[in-house]
Amino acid sequence: MINICSPQSPPIVRSITELRALTGAWRAADQRVALVPTMGALHEGHLSLVHLARRQASKVIVSLFVNPAQFGPGEDFQSYPRDEALDAQILAAVGCDLLYAPSPAAIYPPGFVTTVTVGGLTDFMEGATRPGHFSGVTTVVAKLIIQCAPDVAVFGEKDYQQLQIIRRLAADLDLPVEIIAGPIARDPDGLALSSRNAYLTPQQRTIAPTLNRALQVAARAMAVGVPAPVAEADARRILEVAGFDAVDYIEARSADTLERLAGVVSVPARLLAAARLGRVRLLDNAPI
Ligand code: PAF
Repeated sequence: MINICSPQSPPIVRSITELRALTGAWRAADQRVALVPTMGALHEGHLSLVHLARRQASKVIVSLFVNPAQFGPGEDFQSYPRDEALDAQILAAVGCDLLYAPSPAAIYPPGFVTTVTVGGLTDFMEGATRPGHFSGVTTVVAKLIIQCAPDVAVFGEKDYQQLQIIRRLAADLDLPVEIIAGPIARDPDGLALSSRNAYLTPQQRTIAPTLNRALQVAARAMAVGVPAPVAEADARRILEVAGFDAVDYIEARSADTLERLAGVVSVPARLLAAARLGRVRLLDNAPI
């Protein structure tokens, strides 16, 4: 439960000109700047990233932009939860220095035709299920980093494939920013926090934490030598029995290159999954 205790909202900036005036003054004063990109509908998971950013820098920018380019046809762009005033109040309570909520034209000006695409890492898992999604993410993240020019940018491990793609993006384009990962924030029953959890019915909400449990069981099994395909199949069965409507994938992959691991796991690895309860698609992952 988020506690809103301070009425003093951070300044909300919508244009690149205003943004650069404020951040330029910080940089002139040798302040280290952190950026936490979000699509709003803030929950404790986002706040844990803001706290992490605060430990890395003296000024923290949170960006809020529901990015149409990363939603596919038939996805929830229109209905995605939006409450900027509440988000600003929540941020006031955790010490954010600037809320960058760009106008659509600040991100996609008239005539915009450029797309930033990361190859390879985007071909499977979320990339296979949601064609075009990652190009939308990497384009907007590249723009937000260029516009805010932070020293560090913080992303959650919940979207683990996205995190590795953004690391690759920053390395390949020599973006002068350090990408920092925040651990997954969970409800007490283990469900990874997500703005989309709000769509779960009470019945689906009781089933949802099984995703984390199944991942933990399989990750522990792999850690003691059970081959990846066997542990993945066991985890899939746990989810089917629990009542998940579909399991899009459960895959053990190398922790940094996301290369698929086929036998006994012997390198730093991550087990990643996406599964559906009705119209809600839950993502989660666990270290092996
Ligand atoms: O993880 C998210 O919320 C979004 O993909 C991001 C990184 C803010 C880009 O729109």
